[in-house]
Amino acid sequence: MEINVFLGAPGSGKGTQAKRLSSQAGFKHFSTGDMLRAAIQKNTEVGKKAKSYIDKGDLVPDNVMIELIKSELAPLSSDSKVILDGFPRTLPQAKALDQDSLTKVRRALYFTVPEMKLVKRLTGRRICQKCGESFHTEFMPPKVDGICDKCGSKLIQRTDDSESVVERRLQIFREQNDQILDYYRQQTNLLELNADAEVEKVFSTLKKSLS
Ligand code: AP5
Ligand code: MG
Repeated sequence: MEINVFLGAPGSGKGTQAKRLSSQAGFKHFSTGDMLRAAIQKNTEVGKKAKSYIDKGDLVPDNVMIELIKSELAPLSSDSKVILDGFPRTLPQAKALDQDSLTKVRRALYFTVPEMKLVKRLTGRRICQKCGESFHTEFMPPKVDGICDKCGSKLIQRTDDSESVVERRLQIFREQNDQILDYYRQQTNLLELNADAEVEKVFSTLKKSLS
């Protein structure tokens, strides 16, 4: 398998870009955040475990996350091109991927955006409650206010996109990020990507990095 991991702060655009790549370039996109939100909606065992962590902006325990991602990757064929968006978030998660030769990471792409811009991206984000498509009140407004362009359902704000929870998520990111970057630097497959640009511009840089 060709495993590419997207690293970067909350709001750095990992999900936005991963969705484009999967629809235009045949990558399979796995967002652990989306999986957990779906599990919460369906009230599964994983959802029940994850909810209190997500609502506070804390990380869901490693054992839950590692099992979740492994069960998603296990059925894939060996020629799959994969994007992991939001995983790994900790060193044990990163090592768990590399321990198995099938899921060994090919590249880590680190999306960089100045921190002062992240809060605005996150608090202005709106997502479709049905299909999960993401918008922004200012940077990516839907054609009709409050309605998803793609499926016509209602847009809502993620519960963890309030200003106080965003602060906590950014703090956790700062705590974990350096050791993950160091880890991938040692594996010599870390690429940095300037994600502080228009969505299309970031997308074309990203495609070049992946080719
Ligand atoms: P998760 O859903 O992964 O949230 P996150 O990492 O905080 O990342 P975001 O989804 O907020 O940001 P993004 O980079 O995808 O940005 P997006 O493209 O949407 O995780 C949520 C929670 O789940 C965690 O807090 C944790 O509790 C738990 N969890 C998940 N994975 C875990 C793991 N591995 N281990 C433990 N716990 C885990 O863009 C953001 C906004 O900006 C959008 O509105 C978008 O329209 C806009 N935007 C995007 N690009 C641009 C641009 N170029 N210019 C202007 N605006 C832009
Ligand atoms: Mg995301």
